Amino acid sequence: MSNFDEIINRKNTQCLKYDALFERFGNTKLLPMWVADMDFRVSQPITEAIMNVAKHGIYGYSVESQKYYDAVKYWFENKHQWQLDDDSIFFTNGVVSAIHNLINAFTSKGDGVLIQSPVYYPFFSLVKSNDRKLLVNQLIELNNQYFIDFDDFEKKAREASMFILCSPHNPVSRVWKRDELERMAQICYDNNVIIISDEIHNDLVQKPFKHIPTATINTLIEDITITCHSASKTFNLAGLNTAYIITKNRKWKQQIQQHYARQHAHAFNIFGAEAMYAAYMHSDQWYSQLLQYIKDNYLYLVQYIQANIPHVKITPMEATYLIWLDFRAFNMTDQQLKNFIIDNAALALNDGPSFGIGGSGFQRINIACPRKTLEIALIQLTKACNSL
Ligand SMILES: Cc1ncc(COP(=O)(O)O)c(C=O)c1O
Repeated sequence: MSNFDEIINRKNTQCLKYDALFERFGNTKLLPMWVADMDFRVSQPITEAIMNVAKHGIYGYSVESQKYYDAVKYWFENKHQWQLDDDSIFFTNGVVSAIHNLINAFTSKGDGVLIQSPVYYPFFSLVKSNDRKLLVNQLIELNNQYFIDFDDFEKKAREASMFILCSPHNPVSRVWKRDELERMAQICYDNNVIIISDEIHNDLVQKPFKHIPTATINTLIEDITITCHSASKTFNLAGLNTAYIITKNRKWKQQIQQHYARQHAHAFNIFGAEAMYAAYMHSDQWYSQLLQYIKDNYLYLVQYIQANIPHVKITPMEATYLIWLDFRAFNMTDQQLKNFIIDNAALALNDGPSFGIGGSGFQRINIACPRKTLEIALIQLTKACNSL
């Protein structure tokens, strides 16, 4: 049985979440509940796999082996009923850098790239820093539930060459339903828009919700979809820089390979690959316990907030461990809210406006931590709210 209650010191370990508080928040005394990694120890098989590589003592160049392809295929077939073949998988070092490469491989300067906001903030900078035209389809929020504005989506898709979908969605925690995916995908198909489906959170879905890989909608959609994925969010491996791209479109797969080859950027991290293998093949028990622990943390947070600070509203968690909290009832400017969270609540959260339009008045809290840490965070937040 994994002990998710254990508080493990992450300070002074070159840990972004704990050791970059001054750089990111101007204050080292905050309780960090921000960047999307977990304060949990990985599964024992993952630790053992990494130790086995470490013990060898030679860390030269590595080469991909069949077992890593088999692990990805095994995972997708078992968890998502999606049959992949070796040719559809391309290993790379990160989802964000994969999206950067896909933008460059498949679009040109000035082309429109569509995203849905509020959304994971690098989506904005990836489009803008590559000199593409940013097209934003704002999600509709109704009583803290999020929906797609399809009329606007269709209008923007007419101007777009590429759509970057976040599925499940960070930060609003939606697991897109089949009819929503079908409708978005059909609009993309009709307008020759390539779909980049960032599905990094697809294994952090809570029942009764079910993740549907965008590419499985139908064979036409499969042909226009490139999926980006990694075991890193679910198994807490973000520091190991290992991810993969999936596409069944053979021509596109070649284009991706050529694009990476031109940059000589196809390094393979043996630690990450072995960790991914151990995650997919030997960590099922840890994984189901993790999902339950996150669910229980979420229920604890809901019950605590409703009982103590009911004017903070909660976006329902369908997936991820990132909860989108609504502080709009506080009637603060974004700067006031940001200062309030840092100075009064002593918390490091992700500031809503950084997720783009629709983020104003919100904060994102990461609940992938021991219950005790969450409890302390909620007590700090309550005290700060009560002192207003
Ligand atoms: C939607 C989404 N995509 C990508 C990433 C990061 O992926 P990587 O670390 O592989 O670049 C995150 C991290 O939080 C994320 O939420």
